Formats: sequence, structure tokens, C-alpha cells
Amino acid sequence: MKRTVEEHATRFDESAAEYDEAQDSTEYKACASLVVDHARDGLTGEETVLDLGCGTGAIGLALAADAGRVLGRDISEGMMEQAREKAAAAGLENVAFEYGEFRDPQVAEPVDVVVSNFAMHHLSDGEKREAIEVIADLGARRFVLGDVMFFGEPDPEEPFYSPEVDDPSTVGVLADALTDSGFALTAVEMVHEQVGVLVAERAV
Ligand SMILES: C[S@@+](CC[C@H](N)C(=O)[O-])C[C@H]1O[C@@H](n2cnc3c(N)ncnc32)[C@H](O)[C@@H]1O
Repeated sequence: MKRTVEEHATRFDESAAEYDEAQDSTEYKACASLVVDHARDGLTGEETVLDLGCGTGAIGLALAADAGRVLGRDISEGMMEQAREKAAAAGLENVAFEYGEFRDPQVAEPVDVVVSNFAMHHLSDGEKREAIEVIADLGARRFVLGDVMFFGEPDPEEPFYSPEVDDPSTVGVLADALTDSGFALTAVEMVHEQVGVLVAERAV
């Protein structure tokens, strides 16, 4: 991580009120939409969905109508306050947003599907590997990861990658970490050379 967890939390607390309005890029919208579609596939309305790095709830809230329960976890109280307000305004009662870090999501109940969008790239390769092992240990049958990731050479001149705060991995590093943790990669969607969606299913 290029910053500490606390520094990232403060950074997002400070921009939480304007965050949703700023997410107007075609690539962010396409990535979020793909994550929701892949996560929704096969949901029966009974499942527990965990949204890691949930922010203001873009993914978790979109899945709430199709899931039994949505748990949102994030390190920024300011971002989660926005998510809670949106849930209340939409009358959603099956969602809960609480503090949790990728490698310690503070989830005690069984989880069926884990999602994460535009958040894991704050972790280093090794930290992502630890987080993916924690996700695998939660027993989820599917993990849908949308994020900044490198399909080619990292290019700070291109959008979505600010080296001073971001620490994205290559698609290869992510694929290795997922398969080493017992997942099989069932879909790879390239949204941009630096943005993609990986769908991982439990191999056994
Ligand atoms: C760019 S926002 C994405 C929010 C949301 N998933 C979306 O798609 O709009 C990144 C989020 O990741 C959270 N985050 C950053 N580092 C984290 C960590 N180590 N553990 C959990 N959440 C983290 C931030 O607080 C922020 O809310």
C-alpha cells in the first residue's frame, strides 16, 4: 500500500460527499455494471453478498433486491455514511455497512458471493494475495473483482492509475493469487487497458 489504511480512510472521508457525482467515466460505469451482472447471475434472493471496499454502496445497493442480505465493508466511515443514507432513501432493509478491511473484513457469517469494485488496487501484490486468501476462507462460491489492473504496461499517463496512491497489479498476478487460493477464473473482461473484471468461482 502506498498509504496507510488510516491515510486512505481519511482521503475517502474527505471526498465522500462528492464521490458519486465524480464517477462519470464510461469505464467506471462499464466496470460497475459488469461486476453487478456477474455477481447477480445465479442469485435466488436467499444469498449473502459481501461488498468489500463498498464505498458509497454502488455495487451492494444494486444487488440488494436480488440477494437475501448485503454486507458492505469499508475503512471510510464517510463513504459508508453515504451508502447508509442511500439505502434508507431506497427503503432497503437487507443491507448493512460496517467497518472492515480487505484482510480483516470482520464478517462472522457465511458468505455466498463476494464482490469488490475499484477498491483492491490500493493494496500491494502481497496484500492482495493475503486478502484473496481471506476471501477464499469465507467460503464464497464466487468472487467478482472489478478494478484497476494492468493488461499491458503500467502507464500513469493513462486514466485510472495514480502511482502516488494506487498500487494496481497485473492481470497475471491477480489470476495467480486467485487460482492459488482455490478459485478457477471463469471470465476476464477488459474494460480498458488499465481496468478489468475478473470472475472467480470456487474450483472445488
Ligand atoms: C474508489 S472507491 C470504490 C467504492 C465502490 N466500490 C465503488 O465501486 O464506487 C474505493 C473504496 O475502497 C476503500 N478502501 C481503500 N482501501 C481499503 C482497504 N484496505 N480495505 C477496505 N476498503 C478500502 C475506500 O475507503 C473507498 O471507499
